[in-house]
Amino acid sequence: MHANLSLQQAPPFSVPARFLVSAPLFGMVAALVMLWHGPEMISHRWTPELLAVTHFLTLGFLAMSMLGALMQLMPVLMGMVIPRAILFSSMVHTPLFLGSACLGLAWLININELFIIAMALLGFSFTIFIVVVTERLLRSKNRHVTRSMMMLALFALFITAILGIYLAMGYASADFSLARQLTDLHLSWGLLGWVALLIMAVAYQVIPMFQITDEYPARHQRWMGWSLFIALLALSLAYNWPSEILKSISQIFLAACLLIFALTTLWVLQTRRRQIPDLTMMFWQLAMVSLILLILAWAIATLMNFDLPVLLGVLIIHGFAMTTITGMMYKIIPFLIWLHLSTRNKNLRDKGERTSQVKVPHMRKIIPEAAGLWQFRLHSISLVLLILAAIWPDWFFYPATLVFFIAQTALFFNLSKAVYFYNAKIAELETQQS
Ligand code: HEM
Repeated sequence: MHANLSLQQAPPFSVPARFLVSAPLFGMVAALVMLWHGPEMISHRWTPELLAVTHFLTLGFLAMSMLGALMQLMPVLMGMVIPRAILFSSMVHTPLFLGSACLGLAWLININELFIIAMALLGFSFTIFIVVVTERLLRSKNRHVTRSMMMLALFALFITAILGIYLAMGYASADFSLARQLTDLHLSWGLLGWVALLIMAVAYQVIPMFQITDEYPARHQRWMGWSLFIALLALSLAYNWPSEILKSISQIFLAACLLIFALTTLWVLQTRRRQIPDLTMMFWQLAMVSLILLILAWAIATLMNFDLPVLLGVLIIHGFAMTTITGMMYKIIPFLIWLHLSTRNKNLRDKGERTSQVKVPHMRKIIPEAAGLWQFRLHSISLVLLILAAIWPDWFFYPATLVFFIAQTALFFNLSKAVYFYNAKIAELETQQS
């Protein structure tokens, strides 16, 4: 493994695992809600069902897996230790899980009190995460660009959450008017700030490390995060002091940053030195193609002056973000299982208890290749069908949501099976030692 990985810093496996396994559960729930409500739910941007599904995916799937991956990657990539990792992860995971469920339910069954509970739970979960992790990042001696980009991403999450809670007050109380002029800003900070910045930050380290490629160009790494962040700040200014010119310039700048990132990533992936086909690599490629399609769709819609909110949402949430994260799950989970079992074996060897060791399979065997490949195919088909459903809902909505449900169930199954395998090995180790 790469020398940069600080193996001893890794938190217990249950810390990231609970987040990563919870994510596809929300994907499954989102698909079921879509199947239940049918194509009318995407007739316009503001249907409660669409808002519920959006947050099952952005909070339940994306934020859930991104916080889990961060808790794992920060100690391993940056050598940072999170104090009392199990307690801390429960304090973040439980309210995030319940808060995401409550927010979605609040829209689906229209109970105002649920918005208040969701705001409290999500506010708590994000606050402690952001405060503790930012403090650790500030203290970290690591000076890789990933560190500053992670801080920018956390700042973007903070802004997203504040705007989200403010918007949710408009649903929670009749005395509070819904500040809909802030919705686009909320989703821009959420999807282009929090999600895109974090994916970029992580890509700069994990693509060269796990895919054995060249590094991203140094200038790209140095400037991309800040450029995106400044464009978001400019966009926020344009909303506060309305200026159409500033708004258009910042949007074009944002689109250019994303396009450059997508093209550079595809180019870096081409420099891969290992020739064996790799599942995570396919997910990265699909995600970058989705990002390019997103920019194209946005440019066409802007030039022709029409709105494509559902298509853009599908391309960024499912096509770009969920694809990247699913691909990383197929690397992170087997790697962690391999890492934890190998470390336990090493400790036993050091103590002279060689016979108590357990057999650790190759990383590529922990989640069988064929199972991962099938899930990738289902994921890709669901993406194509969802894109078509955004354009012709009457024809494609049901097939799209059905395949999406099956793809998420397959992901849940693949991840749970790997966790089960790990627990069985640990039980084997413990019986051999007793
Ligand atoms: C504390 C957490 C959050 C809360 C309380 C929250 C709340 C809300 C509310 C109330 C709306 C509806 C606004 C309206 O009706 O105009 C909304 C819209 C939206 N939110 Fe969030 N949100 C949160 C986090 C996020 C995150 C992290 C993301 C993305 C990563 C996100 C993405 C979106 C999107 C895309 C929409 C617009 C949906 C549409 O236009 O159909 N939200 N949010």
